Amino acid sequence: MKSFTLSHILALSCSVAATIVNLGTAITYGVVSGTAGVANTGLTVITGNLGTTAASITGFGPGVVTGTKNINNPAGITAFNDASLAYAQAFGLVGGINWSSMSDLTGRTILPGIYKFSGTVSLNGQVFLNAQGNSSATWVFQIGSALNINLGSQVILTNGAKACNIFWQAGSTAVIQVNTAFQGNVLAYAGINVKTSASVKGGLYAKTASVTLEGNAVKAPNLVC
Ligand SMILES: *[C@@H]1O[C@H](CO)[C@@H](O)[C@H](O)[C@H]1NC(C)=O
Ligand SMILES: *[C@@H]1O[C@H](CO)[C@@H](O)[C@H](O)[C@H]1NC(C)=O
Repeated sequence: MKSFTLSHILALSCSVAATIVNLGTAITYGVVSGTAGVANTGLTVITGNLGTTAASITGFGPGVVTGTKNINNPAGITAFNDASLAYAQAFGLVGGINWSSMSDLTGRTILPGIYKFSGTVSLNGQVFLNAQGNSSATWVFQIGSALNINLGSQVILTNGAKACNIFWQAGSTAVIQVNTAFQGNVLAYAGINVKTSASVKGGLYAKTASVTLEGNAVKAPNLVC
């Protein structure tokens, strides 16, 4: 048996520190939900896997999953448990910037970091996430209640920012409205509702309510990294 030296331990703790929120197996999933399931209408394409602990899902087809549909099987249950752990990690991170005095991200340029909001957060246009050249740069948005991405909004990544390194933790629901171009992983305590023709680069992970889709393009985080 090999013994661990101090340098092994330091290397290990560094790599853990770099992954601020660990999605585990859920990183290869575009959509994960619990027993409330997944309901689709229209020509949704999920690039990646779909996992749920529900007995069944609806609307696939016409919806398409390019990877595997893990419906209440061991892989689906593991993906849900991993997504739940990631939710708890994102929720529990300390030391963020308290942005509770505002709730609308429209027009802002946001540098990497942890941002805490006591209530709802909305987007009604464009928001820019600027990595300043650091392709490992991470954003965690700790949102006390709902995340509302409104009609036609866009999350725009600049200077090396990657969708896989963005985490939107919502204490209630997340709604991604018609014709939006959204980026980042959504970790929602309740449901996630993605409306007609919206695109999502990142995973949609709902804990206690369903994920509903309407003719969307969703890409798993490992494919937008
Ligand atoms: C954040 O700021 C709000 C007021 O804008 C305050 O009510 C809240 O307690 C603050 N939260 C933390 C964790 O400091
Ligand atoms: C890049 O971002 C990562 C993750 O936040 C951080 O650990 C690292 O120190 C940053 N690198 C530089 C050069 O700022």
